[in-house]
Amino acid sequence: MAQLWGGRFTKETDKQVYDFNASIRYDKRLFRQDIEGSVAHVIMLERQGILTAKEMQDIVAGLDTIRKDVENGKLSIDEKYEDIHSFVEAVLTERIGDTGKKLHTGRSRNDQVALDMRLYTRLQVLLVDGLLKELLQVILNTMEGNTDTFMPGFTHLQKAQPITLAHHYGAYFEMFKRDRLRMKDIFKRMNYCPLGAGALAGTTYPLDRELTAELMGFYGPTLNSMDSVSDRDYLIEFLAALSTVMMHLSRFSEEIIIWNSDEYRFVEVDDAYSTGSSIMPQKKNPDIAELVRGKTGRVYGDLMSLLTTMKGLPLAYNKDMQEDKEVAFDAFDTVKDCIVLFTGMLDSMKFNRERMAVSAMRGFTNATDAADYLVNKGVPFRDAHGIIGRLVLYCIEKNTSIDALPLEEMKAISDKFEQDIYDAVSLKTCVEKRLTVGAPGPEAMKRVIALNREYLEQEEEDWFPDSSEYEVQCEVTEGSSGWYK
Ligand code: ARG
Repeated sequence: MAQLWGGRFTKETDKQVYDFNASIRYDKRLFRQDIEGSVAHVIMLERQGILTAKEMQDIVAGLDTIRKDVENGKLSIDEKYEDIHSFVEAVLTERIGDTGKKLHTGRSRNDQVALDMRLYTRLQVLLVDGLLKELLQVILNTMEGNTDTFMPGFTHLQKAQPITLAHHYGAYFEMFKRDRLRMKDIFKRMNYCPLGAGALAGTTYPLDRELTAELMGFYGPTLNSMDSVSDRDYLIEFLAALSTVMMHLSRFSEEIIIWNSDEYRFVEVDDAYSTGSSIMPQKKNPDIAELVRGKTGRVYGDLMSLLTTMKGLPLAYNKDMQEDKEVAFDAFDTVKDCIVLFTGMLDSMKFNRERMAVSAMRGFTNATDAADYLVNKGVPFRDAHGIIGRLVLYCIEKNTSIDALPLEEMKAISDKFEQDIYDAVSLKTCVEKRLTVGAPGPEAMKRVIALNREYLEQEEEDWFPDSSEYEVQCEVTEGSSGWYK
């Protein structure tokens, strides 16, 4: 047991209590943020005349060796400490002597952990945004090559009207584009520095909170010390945005699972992204899509857990808030893994264009266009709807389709039908005539693709920093996959 406090206690902490209370098992992944915050803090303390230049230099150099040694494996984070803050301070004092004990001047672990989490989360927002951008690129590339790839559009999972693959993918492009906007929005709102709030009521030291905020790339300091140590809104917002990302990934996964089934065979998920069965030799299952769909529940759970943790907390800091970490880290890791794997799966997936087009022709997907044809011949839409309904019923009885029905048989239902009906209800016409903004007609689609290409290329550098600018961060936990970071 190794804790930062103990003076006012007459007994050792019970071992089980100590373990229950300790957070180092999971907050050790904040070690870089913890060191970054401490460096900024002591630089400020020196500028304010609270530490001497020598003390500041010794502490900064000591912290730097700790960071390097943890990174290169010379120093392992010892879980006998209560949390990452205690570990760093204890090792510092071991290494540089009593000056290390001055590190915590004018600071509490409450503002310290609030800062560490914010720094860590800020980086995650940027990393998720970057991964979403890569996903958008894959989606847009597919859209560009498939403005003429016809497929059925569905409502109620019943064939409705013909669309194109570019159009279908375009729907997901818009969803993930909005997800990126949410990242930007969260970043803007969260990028204020809680350091200097102390335990809850600021400190009597003349801290320069603007300076520490600036040193760590924040827009400025947070404005209420009680709120600073007890605010986890930014985490909740981020988990909510991540839940929305997962919801989008899950819907897309569901479609891929359906499209990849033998009944549909619209797509084939690459072997590298499929798995087999231990008993059925013929099986090739879309497990990655299923897992992404499944992990959505887990990320929703992380959000619900944090919301519930926060709901009854009086101001200001309460230990309940330590529970923010595991759920947040779980959501960060899960969502990043899911986006990366989903992107790879999408990028390697093959399309069966022939099957899609044949499917688009079946199921009377041109019935709306047939009704519109009659409207153009002067029939009021409601009447046209009724006529085509009867035509469809007739076709079903005859086991045929509108475009294959001889003109005389059509005329028996309405004398408005002429030879030009066949062109009007052809798959190509049905799609190509849909030219309003956002519709699947290839010309309309190409304009949207150009706009979206421009959006991806511009990258809005002016508002969104590259995650490398916030690179103090990264994982140190064993067992975290970490390979995409
Ligand atoms: N491990 C704690 C957490 O994550 C750090 C803050 C501890 N503060 C305190 N007053 N015990 O919330």
